[in-house]
Amino acid sequence: MDIEKGDVASHYGSPELVERILASLSEAGKSLDSLTVNDFASFDNLHLGGVEETLSLARLAAAQHGMSVLDVGSGLGASARTLASNFGCHVVGLDITPEFCEAAELLSGLVGLGDMVSFRHGNALDMPFDDASFDLVWSQHTSMNIEEKSVLLAEIARVLRPEGILAVHDITAGPQLDIHYPVPWADNKAMSFLVSPGRYLDLFHTAGFETVEWTDVTYRTMAWMRQNPPRRGDGINASTLLSLDFLERVSNVQRNLEEGCIEVTQGILRKKSDE
Ligand SMILES: C[S@@+](CC[C@H](N)C(=O)[O-])C[C@H]1O[C@@H](n2cnc3c(N)ncnc32)[C@H](O)[C@@H]1O
Repeated sequence: MDIEKGDVASHYGSPELVERILASLSEAGKSLDSLTVNDFASFDNLHLGGVEETLSLARLAAAQHGMSVLDVGSGLGASARTLASNFGCHVVGLDITPEFCEAAELLSGLVGLGDMVSFRHGNALDMPFDDASFDLVWSQHTSMNIEEKSVLLAEIARVLRPEGILAVHDITAGPQLDIHYPVPWADNKAMSFLVSPGRYLDLFHTAGFETVEWTDVTYRTMAWMRQNPPRRGDGINASTLLSLDFLERVSNVQRNLEEGCIEVTQGILRKKSDE
């Protein structure tokens, strides 16, 4: 697959993202010399539950100072920056959308994290990393776009050191199968590859992982969504930076959650040492 022209990259990418982020920060009265990671919080976490879910997953994964972490599907780099600034991890983000890699690099440099995090443009199904390169592989809301999940998990197992940890936070299929589209990760069912939590767990076990934690976080995600309803508002947000119909997409996520079409799962898996 041509990773620059693939469906996923064109779904997430948009022209001049870096320029638009810089213009939005300036319009919001932010001085580029004194930014912190919190200044991006209104737009950079491209997953449900915001930074709170990142912090919760990092604690479950026992993220620690000096760990080498791969963030698969790193988006705008929010989780990479949280893992670096709150836990002292060295993080490499991998993403198929070149505009996101460029923006993630810029945002991280602006808050002085350029030494701790870096971003590579590439496909999670064919990772540009050596075997056993990472202590922790991390992924939030990426596998929904990936049909070949066993290839993804084989690649993750390959680049993770023996007994290394895989931390995932993903949207999974609910008991009601007919999802309302569009959603943030897909315009229609041709781009969405959700599996049930049980099927997902089977895939991890087949790929050589054992379960450390497996938690259904659907209800707390629904509560978070009710407290953080999609709104256009002023300031910088994903609807202005990423897509004009982002609010409709987020409203459909809320509806899908409430009607049982999707669930949200958090998992900590350990790579077995003999794999
Ligand atoms: C919903 S966003 C989540 C971004 C980030 N993990 C976060 O939580 O803020 C999904 C990301 O996965 C990336 N992605 C999807 N399929 C991918 C693949 N095969 N290889 C690498 N990145 C991929 C997309 O480009 C996008 O940045």
